[in-house]
Amino acid sequence: MCVYAYLVLPPQSCLDVNIFKTLIGLTFAFTIKIYLSYSTVQIDRLIIYHSMIQRSLTLSDITHIQHIRQEMPAVTSHLYMNTGTFGPMPTCVIETMQEQLQKEWREGRLGAEVFDTMKTIYSNARTYVASLLHAEVEEIALTDNTGDGMNIIINGMNWQEGDEVITTNHEHISALAPLYQNRDRYGITIRVADLGPFAELSALEAIQTLITARTRLIVLSHVTWTTGTLIDIHAVGQLGRRSGIPVLIDGAQSAGAIPIDIKALDVDFYAIPMQKWLCGPDGTGALYVRRESLHYVTPTHVGYWSVKHEEGIEWELLDNAQCFEVGGRQTAAVAGQAAVLHWFEEFVGYQWLYAHISSLHTYTFHALKKVKGLTLLTPEPGVSGLISFTLDGYDDSEVIKQLHEKYNIYIRNIPSKKCLRISTGFYNTEEEIDQFVQVLSNL
Ligand SMILES: Cc1ncc(COP(=O)(O)O)c(C=O)c1O
Repeated sequence: MCVYAYLVLPPQSCLDVNIFKTLIGLTFAFTIKIYLSYSTVQIDRLIIYHSMIQRSLTLSDITHIQHIRQEMPAVTSHLYMNTGTFGPMPTCVIETMQEQLQKEWREGRLGAEVFDTMKTIYSNARTYVASLLHAEVEEIALTDNTGDGMNIIINGMNWQEGDEVITTNHEHISALAPLYQNRDRYGITIRVADLGPFAELSALEAIQTLITARTRLIVLSHVTWTTGTLIDIHAVGQLGRRSGIPVLIDGAQSAGAIPIDIKALDVDFYAIPMQKWLCGPDGTGALYVRRESLHYVTPTHVGYWSVKHEEGIEWELLDNAQCFEVGGRQTAAVAGQAAVLHWFEEFVGYQWLYAHISSLHTYTFHALKKVKGLTLLTPEPGVSGLISFTLDGYDDSEVIKQLHEKYNIYIRNIPSKKCLRISTGFYNTEEEIDQFVQVLSNL
């Protein structure tokens, strides 16, 4: 349909002219090949994989991906399939950060105007995060990363000895570490809900059987980092609401990968990073604190940004999520955070991005099934951007090394599960998946 449109409609731009000419002269498959800029090294090394899986990208998708890839040089110089660890940064992040640093260097950090600029940059970043999560801006605090947000809530709970927290057997150490810390410091009990080896069991059922009169908090991921399973946190949020227990979500593998309508999810706290699926600078992240749930938590760290600055007030915390912010941040990084979120809203488009990650996840799920000796650990296709699997007879860290050194392919392994994990990024293509599958088949 889209090909047809390009053939019959006059081209609108220089890029369109090229696409128009190419389409007339070349086959559709070859056009795809030309328009997705892989390194020649990869093309030389890899045989085109004739997949039986139906490709689903329209030409407008392909053009859009091409535009996106032009903004992200890291994804054209490597087969970049590890967004779940660190996402590639688009040009706007680097330009914005450089501009801010240059300005600070050139003009100094002087006067009220500088302070106002700083406040505006922070406020923009909070506003974009609020828009991403469909939250109110007063419910957003800027943080350093996911772990920072998890710590803010867990350390702010005023624990008493014997209090209980429920978590699951699929949590990341960044969520568990503050729980262990509070267990060792205050004698709280950690109860672990068993979601099964692939997080395939109902979180609601596993968690509700562990609730007692001493349960003070429930902590779990929206998407498991181990298997890419989407957890029904809405059901857990409602359970928490019915039981008077707040629910803290680790959003490290969900923010920027799947749609998040925080109000509909009915959870209390939601911690996100910027450096993964949101492709932002290191040291930036955010924490959602539901307005009505603010009372559960006392900020452990406080400073200039956490308090009211009004005549006659010696010390009073702000009555919104900003009370969890302490002091000045790396302003250039926060500007980069705002810039990338603006880019997602205005250029990439969140709906397109979520749809592409999901369809690529489904495509990859089925394509991987064709590799001999490969066992998928991810229970369901199309629900997130992570897929985990094992390869019979192969050591996971050896595979990572080989993929990197021989094929310029970047994925990760999860040593505790002895498995491999790939991320289907919004900038990845079906052809890249085919290349990856081909390489795995020939290891
Ligand atoms: C589920 C999960 N939680 C937390 C983290 C830690 O994230 P951050 O470095 O943003 O604290 C990760 C990172 O890999 C993760 O996958």
